Amino acid sequence: MLQVKQVNKIYEGNIAYRALTDIDLTVDEGEFIGIMGPSGSGKTTLLNLIATVDSPTTGEILIDGKSIGRMGKNELAVFRRRQLGFVFQDFNLLNTLTVEENMVLPLTLDGAPVREMKEKAQRIADKLGIASIMKKRTYEISGGQSQRTAIARAMIHSPKLLLADEPTGNLDSKAAKDVLDMLMTINQEQKTTMLLVTHDAVAASYCHRVVFIKDGRFYTEIHRGDNRQGFFQKIIDTLSLLGGYGNDVPTIRIP
Ligand SMILES: Nc1ncnc2c1ncn2[C@@H]1O[C@H](COP(=O)(O)OP(=O)(O)O)[C@@H](O)[C@H]1O
Ligand SMILES: [Mg+2]
Repeated sequence: MLQVKQVNKIYEGNIAYRALTDIDLTVDEGEFIGIMGPSGSGKTTLLNLIATVDSPTTGEILIDGKSIGRMGKNELAVFRRRQLGFVFQDFNLLNTLTVEENMVLPLTLDGAPVREMKEKAQRIADKLGIASIMKKRTYEISGGQSQRTAIARAMIHSPKLLLADEPTGNLDSKAAKDVLDMLMTINQEQKTTMLLVTHDAVAASYCHRVVFIKDGRFYTEIHRGDNRQGFFQKIIDTLSLLGGYGNDVPTIRIP
């Protein structure tokens, strides 16, 4: 469903900076892909290009065989609103709104009827375990609940592709596990294609495949297969080869 072809990204400025070099990535419908790499390796840049927030300097990105660089303004807007969900490390919720209002925001922008919005919000909140906090404001809820709300908002229009940029980066391990379980369930039940940028080997071990990038270039990729423990160990080994993670690469076994 997604093809990244020979993508290069150079940030122009006083000093031009090459953030991505010759990136190729093909993602099938329903795949759950992890993207790992040291800080500054170009992970967020890649996600932003796929999210059409920014455009590649050269190369192209195709969704369902269609180049997003060639879509018109309206087509792009519809693509972003209908097909794409985005989840960030810092949740990006609007603090003046309630959980429910945050959730239905994409539908509000799309002009959906209120009753339909409320029904959808209720259904998703039940599924994601946040039904009891729908009327709370974002400053009244925990980090884990905030990220679940952000995922609910990203999922409310049933996007085909969910992009998550370090969604567990600000969460404790229990909340992180809840969020990952939730992403995995959404991937399995709704066949949502997912790209998860993460620093965390445990989080990455939830994925079907992990793509590693280093200095803006493809480094290697590994597949899970049926042995999650072995996959986790391979992720750890690759991270230590990759460098840039300091000495804090965990050696624990996954639960
Ligand atoms: N808007 C920008 N202008 C100039 N350089 C940028 C911009 N955004 C990111 N960069 C640079 O591009 C590189 C990759 O950044 P980023 O994609 O955010 O990395 P990551 O998400 O892997 O930490 C970094 O060196 C960063 O400083
Ligand atoms: Mg980043």
